[in-house]
Amino acid sequence: MAEFREQRFGLFIHWGLYALAARHEWVKQRERLTDEQYQRYFDHFDPDLFDPDAWADAAAGAGMRYMVLTTKHHDGFCLWPSALTDYSVAGTPYGRDLVGPIVDAFRGRGLGVGFYHSLIDWHHPQFPIDGIHPSWSDDVSNNDRNIEEYQTYLHGQVEELLTRYGRIDTMWFDFSYAKRVVNGRPTPGGKGAADWRSEELASLVRKLQPGILINDRLEIPGDFTTPEQYQPTAPPAQVWEACQTLNGSWGYDRDNLDHKPVDLLVRMLVDTVSKDGNLLLNVGPNGRGAFDPRSLETLRGIGEWTRLHGRSVYGAGPSPFEAPPDCRYTQRGDRLYVHLFAWPYRHLHLPGLAGPDGPRVRYAQFLHDASEIRTLIPDPARDSGHTRLGALPPGTLPLQLPVQRPDVAVPVIELFL
Ligand code: GLC
Repeated sequence: MAEFREQRFGLFIHWGLYALAARHEWVKQRERLTDEQYQRYFDHFDPDLFDPDAWADAAAGAGMRYMVLTTKHHDGFCLWPSALTDYSVAGTPYGRDLVGPIVDAFRGRGLGVGFYHSLIDWHHPQFPIDGIHPSWSDDVSNNDRNIEEYQTYLHGQVEELLTRYGRIDTMWFDFSYAKRVVNGRPTPGGKGAADWRSEELASLVRKLQPGILINDRLEIPGDFTTPEQYQPTAPPAQVWEACQTLNGSWGYDRDNLDHKPVDLLVRMLVDTVSKDGNLLLNVGPNGRGAFDPRSLETLRGIGEWTRLHGRSVYGAGPSPFEAPPDCRYTQRGDRLYVHLFAWPYRHLHLPGLAGPDGPRVRYAQFLHDASEIRTLIPDPARDSGHTRLGALPPGTLPLQLPVQRPDVAVPVIELFL
């Protein structure tokens, strides 16, 4: 857990047959494609540009410290040659394991490795058809489906994954929906802990990988919680990891132009760490096995920031001090980091950082270039009237900032307490 919280920033990878459709990883469900219609992606899956070293380089360059890979998504397609199904990469034109080379590439760069694994399976013949299944209709019959056979398959595949690829740091199951209500209607046939045999599955995972962390989507308490595509307004009570997309879709989505700019993503990372969380940021590689140029450019942009500002993020967490408006604080030991989401004019007033005997800050500098930031000691006798500094609430420490905002995604001031 300590290692997980130290890492703070990871790469989510959503990759599978849906990369070929290139219109969201739920395409099979959204367009209600039959197995036969979806088969064309299996028959044409041949990622000739697949280069996991390039992926790992891009992640490491962005400052990411771990990776979570979709071993199987809801469509049921497996990225490794599972002995328990023919519906895996082994049967595609590509024909070879993908999970092993990806794991090796990331581990080779010292990054942590986790597996996302879908509890839902829209291909398995024994998975009972429910309200979010592509084949759902009001008069569907599940008489020929036996969920116990699916449970055996699910547990067996998790066992394969956790015995074939060495140490795995996190198991990221997705998802439970027994009580899910959409538009005021409960999901018919929604599934949860009893359907996955979650307790047993979690025990199996911990037996095979004693140091592993399990997320909270098995409908039983997990080691960390996973807010998806939103930033919590206050720190969640439990250890947490935000998962976020670059453009709203997890799988490669060719015509989607809703890309988040670098500075927004950096603010998301900072906001997350200031609330004691991790950020898992997603890339959906395309059907040839490459990260698209736009995603690469974004990762490079984030990397420019993390290269200079990593100290304010890795191993850092929330601060007990109250941040001024438009700022986020992170703290690590006696270093307090002020992240400026908006650029103030001339002065930044830090509440509570001027004690009765003088400032509680020994030294202040910009993090990106280690240039000194001067603190001002308010002197009510002198700084009254038109200078205004004397009118500050007691305990406020003013910093004197340049008029020009530093040219970085989010400027950071490092305070030595
Ligand atoms: C979801 C979606 C999904 C995505 C995931 C990531 O629940 O079903 O497609 O993989 O969340 O958090």
